Amino acid sequence: MLKTITEHIGAFGQHYPKVAAIVTAASRGKDDAMTAAWHSSISLNPPLYGVSISPKRFTYELITESKDFGINFIPFEKAALAAKIGGTAGREMDKFERLGIEKEKPSVTQAPILKDAYAAYECKLVDSRAYGDHIWVVGEIVAVHFLEEVFTSERILDLEKVKPLLYLGLEFYATSDKGSVSFIKRGI
Ligand SMILES: Cc1cc2nc3c(=O)[nH]c(=O)nc-3n(C[C@H](O)[C@H](O)[C@H](O)COP(=O)(O)O)c2cc1C
Repeated sequence: MLKTITEHIGAFGQHYPKVAAIVTAASRGKDDAMTAAWHSSISLNPPLYGVSISPKRFTYELITESKDFGINFIPFEKAALAAKIGGTAGREMDKFERLGIEKEKPSVTQAPILKDAYAAYECKLVDSRAYGDHIWVVGEIVAVHFLEEVFTSERILDLEKVKPLLYLGLEFYATSDKGSVSFIKRGI
């Protein structure tokens, strides 16, 4: 099959699927949450995590004030919640109250942890830098919350117990199935 090549990049989405996560922050007694697909681990030592956030987001404003944030991983069954969180403005409403999002207390930061999350990182802001129209926000992971029972003894997500929330672009979501899990040793 012949690949199409274009220099008209547009709203590129060829790299999807990506895990959709919920970024949380709190400041001035206000909590907010936004959905993010553009995030990544960066370093193991120290443990660094990055997320690309538009400066227009209220969550970003709270992160710049509090200097910390949370990254919450929710299951596929909560895709509708991710769409609601990612389609509403924290400047206009308390999303936690309006969307009935239950939160748990963070341990080190001020960022609320979602009760629906099977895993979450608490991050302390270490750097933020503008790249084009987004800010690459980097945090050091200072606490990890996770449901031990949905991970195997090797700390691999058990796809029989939890279905990760994958984002395909636009308004499309998917998940992955246990049948596709393969153990393949790296190298030749
Ligand atoms: C699936 C999905 C993924 C998104 N990924 C990002 C992202 O990576 N970075 C970003 O700045 N906004 C992203 N958004 C948009 C924000 O979640 C959205 O603008 C949100 O309403 C911001 O809320 P806030 O203003 O209360 O912070 C995404 C939205 C959805 C639905």
